[in-house]
Amino acid sequence: MTTEQKVYQLLINHSNTYLSGEEISNQLGLSRTAIWKAINNLKDKGYEILSKPRFGYQLVDNGKLDENFIHKWMKSNFALTLLDTVDSTNTQAKLLAAADKPQVIIANEQTAGYGRYRRDFSSPKNDGIYMSILLSNQPDETLNPGLLTTETAMAIYYAIQECFHISPQIKWVNDILINNKKICGILTEGVADLESGYISRIVVGIGINYTTPLSDFPQDIQDKVGSLRELASKHHVSRNHFIASILNHFSVLYQDYQAGAFMDEYRKASIVIGKEVTIQQASKTITGTVATINNDGNLILTDGQIFTSGEVTKIRY
Ligand code: BTN
Repeated sequence: MTTEQKVYQLLINHSNTYLSGEEISNQLGLSRTAIWKAINNLKDKGYEILSKPRFGYQLVDNGKLDENFIHKWMKSNFALTLLDTVDSTNTQAKLLAAADKPQVIIANEQTAGYGRYRRDFSSPKNDGIYMSILLSNQPDETLNPGLLTTETAMAIYYAIQECFHISPQIKWVNDILINNKKICGILTEGVADLESGYISRIVVGIGINYTTPLSDFPQDIQDKVGSLRELASKHHVSRNHFIASILNHFSVLYQDYQAGAFMDEYRKASIVIGKEVTIQQASKTITGTVATINNDGNLILTDGQIFTSGEVTKIRY
């Protein structure tokens, strides 16, 4: 480890407090001048380090994606790959599909982010969370992609509760809304093994408008989308912190996601149950009243129709 890396590591481990030059120099067995130089080099690289006379130095989690800050909050042991600009983290995760342990690909910006039905997913830089969790699916596992997406929605739901002390709404299938504006979308894709045709890898893509100003979105969606900007600022929760919180909840729920133990909470958060809705399924448009969402994540209308997939395009309040 270089002096710079050692100083950085120490600062990140104490990032909620100031560390004096003397403490750093004693802990690392290095001269005060070497510490001072390392701090300046880190600042030149874009790290925000506060310095206060008599108190010392403090590294600030200023919103820039940083693997070390994510690890600081993370209890789960995912391998992380942070990238600046990519076409799509789902595309990158699919290219990495040979990886044999769970991986998370996180990007600062996507140039070709996509959502369900291959729609564009607007992914402006610096403020959003664009990440894909790559999981392996063993031949003896019963993959339930629908419930896995729902599990992911619940991980984000719990992360929002934990970090911001509010409960978001969920629009079937798995859009997360705050004040009726979409702040998050999820897209789960399978990667088939070419020889057997068996789905051996799963990519769970998560896109969140985190501190994204509404003006950064294309005009035609500005009235439909929201972001976590105000909540993040009010509660001082950085992107790194929120990403870690999602991964922590995801890894706990994933262990037994097929059991759907989170479905009661999901139903409570649902904004469609009891409402008359319009559902678009391929080229079919169906209107009816939602009776419930069952433990497999399927939407059930009061007339008995069951939907395993589709999109609620209208809700009558
Ligand atoms: C939707 O709302 O239709 C789902 C949107 C999913 C977007 C995420 S962003 C990270 C990952 N990479 C992509 O290209 N898509 C998903």
